[in-house]
Amino acid sequence: PVQSFDIQAVPKAELHVHVEGTLEPGMLLDFARRNDVAIPYRSMADILAAYRFSDLQSFLEVYWVGLTVLRTERDFYELTFAYLSRAREDGVVHAEVYITPADHTERGVPFAAVMDGISAAYADARSQLDITGGMILCVRRHKPVEEAFAAIEMASPWRDRVMALGLGGPEKCYPPGQFAEVFARARALDWKATAHAGEEGPPRYVTEAIDRLRVDRIDHGVQCEADPALMRRLADEGIPLTVCPLSNVALKVFPALEQHNLRRLLHAGLCVTVNSDDPAYFGGHVNENFIRAAGALGLTAEEQLSLADNSLKAAFMDEDRRKRAR
Ligand code: ADE
Ligand code: ZN
Repeated sequence: PVQSFDIQAVPKAELHVHVEGTLEPGMLLDFARRNDVAIPYRSMADILAAYRFSDLQSFLEVYWVGLTVLRTERDFYELTFAYLSRAREDGVVHAEVYITPADHTERGVPFAAVMDGISAAYADARSQLDITGGMILCVRRHKPVEEAFAAIEMASPWRDRVMALGLGGPEKCYPPGQFAEVFARARALDWKATAHAGEEGPPRYVTEAIDRLRVDRIDHGVQCEADPALMRRLADEGIPLTVCPLSNVALKVFPALEQHNLRRLLHAGLCVTVNSDDPAYFGGHVNENFIRAAGALGLTAEEQLSLADNSLKAAFMDEDRRKRAR
């Protein structure tokens, strides 16, 4: 019976989480104080009142305010280590976190502070918590491609710690195709590739990410359901989707969790995974996403197990690591 099934103990990978989106309200207030950064919130209540979103854009505007409190290597270390510890409690054995360099460097934060802080947190988490993973370097689709090339260039001293190039930011009106050359550069560095597509944007953005960016995974991708041929292609080619149920409801991609297409996508044969996206903003880490989606959609234990196993399949990890995780 579903009631006695406990997703916590099931080994899983988290593949779609923005490290800046793991900044819990308490930490946001603490970091603002210690770094003397002015923020539009005086209390936890102010923050919680601001965390009501109508779409992706309205969320991003709040998220871009929140991340301004991140300034030092210590901030990035503490943020990442706290996330990895919390994820480990959810049975996450491998986490690939998105980081967006330009969101920090444009504020004058040295890129080394970002990369060294996050790298040190991963090193400690690996030895203390037995969790592996790495970074997905995210470029911003609403900015010129030159910024994206510069981010890749800037990351070259840390290129071995970067698992993949990612594409994020406001999706509507920003088709992925213009980043084709940027993604070609990433492939030349032996990085994997992934892109947010089909979150709010049309199915053709998913197709474009596959054909022009040659991504290994699609982040979100839930809009693919409007294009049956694309759905069949995703299933046939085994291109994973990193779905984020609570994010989709918070940003009104679906009116309620009961209307989410996670279960239908799974039954159509897609390699669907469950992820938190920005857990500090959307009300839950990965297990909360599993539990709430399972409750709303009536997911069986077997379905939840296949979602968890898909995350290990879709992870950028070698076969030895995958075997050890299972
Ligand atoms: N950055 C952080 N969360 C995001 C999301 N859900 N879509 C696009 N960009 C993001
Ligand atoms: Zn995301």
